[in-house]
Amino acid sequence: LIAFFQPKLLAGRRVLITAGPTFEAIDPVRGITNLSSGKMGFAIARAAREAGAEVTLVAGPVHLPTPRGVRRIDVQSAQQMHDAVLPLAAQHGVFIATAAVADWRPAAAAGEKIKKDGSGQVPAIGFTENPDILAAVARLPGGPYCVGFAAESHDLARHAREKRLRKGVPLIVGNVGPATFGKDDNTLLLVDADGERALPTADKLTLARALVADIAQRLGTAA
Ligand code: CTP
Ligand code: CA
Repeated sequence: LIAFFQPKLLAGRRVLITAGPTFEAIDPVRGITNLSSGKMGFAIARAAREAGAEVTLVAGPVHLPTPRGVRRIDVQSAQQMHDAVLPLAAQHGVFIATAAVADWRPAAAAGEKIKKDGSGQVPAIGFTENPDILAAVARLPGGPYCVGFAAESHDLARHAREKRLRKGVPLIVGNVGPATFGKDDNTLLLVDADGERALPTADKLTLARALVADIAQRLGTAA
C-alpha cells in the first residue's frame, strides 16, 4: 500500500543496479565469495521500481526474491557481472553499484576438483585483479549518473571521500561494513562534492526509499 502512494520520482528513468556478492571459482566445487546478502541492492531495486523507474538488477549469488516488476539478470563472477553490466549501461540513466564485487579471482580456475595428494602439501592459489565495474561505467562517455557504495570497517567518511574521487563518480554511499552484511538495518552516509549527509539508522527498505528520493532530486537539478 505504501508503494502505491510513493511519488513517481523516477518515472521515465531507467535504473541499472548491481547487488550481492560475486563468486570466484577455484575449481568446479570450490570458490571465494563474501558475506554480502544483497538485501540493500534488492531494496533499492524495489524502491526505484516503486518510484516509477524501469529497473534492471544484475545480481550475484543471493537467496532473495526478485522485487515485483524488476528485470533480473543472475551472474556468478565479477567478470560475468562486468560483461552483463557494460553493454546495458549506455541504455540506463542511472547506475547504482551496491554489489560487493570480489577484488581478486584465482588466476586460473582448475578444470577438475583439486585433490589432496596425501603429502600434506597445500595448493598455491595465485590471484588476478578483477575489472572495476563501477569505474568502467563511470568512464563511459555520455554514460549514466553513477552511484557507488563503500563498506568500510573504519574511517568511513574519509575512505568514502577518497573512493568518490578515485572512481570518478558524483555520489558515494558509505556504510559501516561488515557490521551491515545480512542485517535488516543500516546507516548510510551520502558523500558528494559538497560534503556529507547521514541517513539515520533504519530498515534497508526505508533507507532505499530515502536514497532513491535523494538521487531523483539530484537528477532533477542536474537536468
Ligand atoms: N566495485 C565494482 N567493481 C569492483 C570493485 C568495486 O563495481 N571490481 C564497486 C562496488 O560495487 C562499490 C564501489 O565500487 O559500489 C566501491 O567498492 P569497494 O570494494 O568499497 O571499493 P574498492 O575500490 O574495491 O576498494 P577497497 O575494496 O580496497 O576498499
Ligand atoms: Ca573492493
